Amino acid sequence: MEPIRVGVVGCGQIAQIMHLPYLTELPQFRVTAVCDLSTAVVEAVGERFGVPVRCRDYADLVSRDDVDAVAVLTIEHAGVAVAAAAAGKHLFIEKPIGFSLAEADRIIAAVARAGVTAMIGYMKRYDPGYEYGAARMQAMDDVRLIRVHDFAVDFSAHLPLFTLVTADDLPPALLAESQAAIEATRRAALGAEHAHLSELYSTLLMLASHDLAILRGAFGAPAGVRYSDAISPTELLSVLDYGEGRRCVFEAGVRAQYLWWDEQMTAYGAREIVEITFPNPYVPYAPTVVTIRENEAGSPVRKEIPVSHQEAFRREWLHFAECVRSGSPPRTSLADARADVALAIDMIRAIPVADRAGAGH
Ligand SMILES: NC(=O)c1ccc[n+]([C@@H]2O[C@H](COP(=O)([O-])OP(=O)(O)OC[C@H]3O[C@@H](n4cnc5c(N)ncnc54)[C@H](O)[C@@H]3O)[C@@H](O)[C@H]2O)c1
Repeated sequence: MEPIRVGVVGCGQIAQIMHLPYLTELPQFRVTAVCDLSTAVVEAVGERFGVPVRCRDYADLVSRDDVDAVAVLTIEHAGVAVAAAAAGKHLFIEKPIGFSLAEADRIIAAVARAGVTAMIGYMKRYDPGYEYGAARMQAMDDVRLIRVHDFAVDFSAHLPLFTLVTADDLPPALLAESQAAIEATRRAALGAEHAHLSELYSTLLMLASHDLAILRGAFGAPAGVRYSDAISPTELLSVLDYGEGRRCVFEAGVRAQYLWWDEQMTAYGAREIVEITFPNPYVPYAPTVVTIRENEAGSPVRKEIPVSHQEAFRREWLHFAECVRSGSPPRTSLADARADVALAIDMIRAIPVADRAGAGH
């Protein structure tokens, strides 16, 4: 079978560390074009991964006949995604889908018009450890409390593992302009009363949208947000309501300087506790560990299951290939990604505005 020809837009960290290595390794794909605003990045990446077509304007990439699917690996996704869908290309879009519901809706409408396959890169949903742990959690009939905890580490810890090319050649004014546009979108999405919590909202979208996605994958959508508290400008505590006496405590933040990755989802039942512990996502092939605590023959036992070395980022691309070939809908849909943005907004809006001083703003 002919490989799916992929054009990659945005050749920064995650493209270099994860997506391009798998896209160039897997026989299901051939990378036919790469695009980045930075000449230094696009040239170096094109050279390293053997891609001769190198563009700086994504309009040039999405209009190419030798591109079947576009990987949207930029920070802002709507512009690229809408143009690629309009050109009839299938879409792989990194998380979060956008910084507002309006951005998500623009992408969803463009994809519906074009009838292409579109998937969000929530790779943890394709992690075999997550799949195993989530199935165990779903089999528990008495879960009262779910706890999701993600305190990201100092991200520079993983950088020495890789040889990365950075976009040092871009004019600072261009970067400032794009950051200002994203900030304006985030503030508008939150509304005037909560706009000052934009950094916390950014933490939810950039880091913890993964955790909203794994929670949704295992337990579906919550009925609402019962409580939210801005512990600091970048740390959030929320309680989500799952009805029938079931709650989820959701803790997310970027401040910790731990040398380990600190991300778990835990389900507490009456007879057992099941916990999924995720590895640093920048360490390829590190297993996600499922821990089960239960009573056995009159004793408490604790089992640790390092489920698999299969890599979530690699498996999400295999799933994407299957969906493009078969036309079946991806497990990580645009609609779910939109719902994650809506929930993130609700979680921020549940913070009493009287907390403004407490949040350090
Ligand atoms: N799945 C994960 O675990 C994970 C991890 C990190 C990042 N991400 C997501 O991946 C995306 C990229 O993150 P990153 O850390 O690689 O960022 P990055 O800043 O390292 O890379 C982004 C690249 O896109 C380029 N770019 C920006 N606008 C462009 C445009 N209009 N046209 C062409 N190129 C453009 C930049 O020059 C830069 O090289 C984000 O959406 C982020 O949320 C996901």
